[in-house]
Amino acid sequence: MDLQQLKETKIAALTEASACADLDAVEAVRVRYLGRKGLLPDIMRSLKDIPNEEKATFGQTANALKNELSEALDIRKKELRAAETGTSDEFFDYTLPGQWRGWGTAHPISQIIDRVADIFATIGFTLADGPDIEDEFHNFDALNTPGDHPSRDMHDTFYLDSGELLRTHTSPGQIRYMENAPPPIRILVPGRCYRRDTEDATHSANFHQVEGLYVNERVSMAELKGDLTYFARQIIGNRAEVRFRPHFFPFTEPSVEVDFTCHVCANQPTPKGCRVCKESGWIEIAGAGMVDPNVFKAVGYNPDEVAGYAFGMGIERIAMIMLEIDDIRRLYENDVRFLSQF
Ligand code: FA5
Repeated sequence: MDLQQLKETKIAALTEASACADLDAVEAVRVRYLGRKGLLPDIMRSLKDIPNEEKATFGQTANALKNELSEALDIRKKELRAAETGTSDEFFDYTLPGQWRGWGTAHPISQIIDRVADIFATIGFTLADGPDIEDEFHNFDALNTPGDHPSRDMHDTFYLDSGELLRTHTSPGQIRYMENAPPPIRILVPGRCYRRDTEDATHSANFHQVEGLYVNERVSMAELKGDLTYFARQIIGNRAEVRFRPHFFPFTEPSVEVDFTCHVCANQPTPKGCRVCKESGWIEIAGAGMVDPNVFKAVGYNPDEVAGYAFGMGIERIAMIMLEIDDIRRLYENDVRFLSQF
């Protein structure tokens, strides 16, 4: 028997096994192929005549024939027995009490997005949505970040073969909303973001942000600072301190980064600092600023007639502060012992 014939024999044997009409037929197939005087011992004997380069494949195929056929015959035997008696081999006691598996709850990230939305709802913000797969126009160009802009490097982007990309922040949500609605606007856009960031205690390649956008005839930086401080105190309590640091974003001018006090080491004696806050005592929560006139132009608004503030905050960072966890990765490990605490 050569290799080709062996392969054909294997197919024939498996087909015969699954077609057996009763237990006698199963036994007959077993004897014909696997019995002491059956085909398989013959096949093994013919191994010595197989050319050396085919020996290994021939041996493996013969073994596969033996194992798969035994298994197929066992399965067929069980099926036939179950059909005869109208039961399966497994005994199932319907009178046993069920096992309590506990209630599921929303993931902490979802809980925090809900909480953020509730707090901003108290000052007039409604929810909006945007797609995870974005185009360059909405993720960059319309946000005053043209192709050659150096700040594109800050967002290490996942590009798709189609030329689209996975959104690197929720800011394209601002553009999509303004394209379709006139001012005044007061929206929150929560969503997943994707960056080729190296993971550490405070960074993940796939994280969540909530974008905020307020556009009206007159909007000031003081309102931005007041609203974000209000938010910080609502979400972490009056112990929260907020710090605004001058920063640069192409789509806001002036721009700031917003830090909340680090929950892990805030209560330690000076000097403050730990792994979570990189020894600084503060955790960066958001980028924010006054909407750049070029952004208004890109969506067809007249920058002389409107003003606005925008912010984008990291949900995981808020989760770390609120839930007092020291490593962002705990949020994605799906360890029920961790998750069930919240
Ligand atoms: C932005 O993404 C801007 N779009 C924010 C913005 C919106 C500025 C509107 C002005 C106006 P930045 O890259 O700094 O900015 O990210 C904002 C927040 O997202 C950070 O403060 C941080 O809390 C969170 N964040 C950023 N990268 C990661 C990451 N890899 N893992 C977890 N959280 C992250």
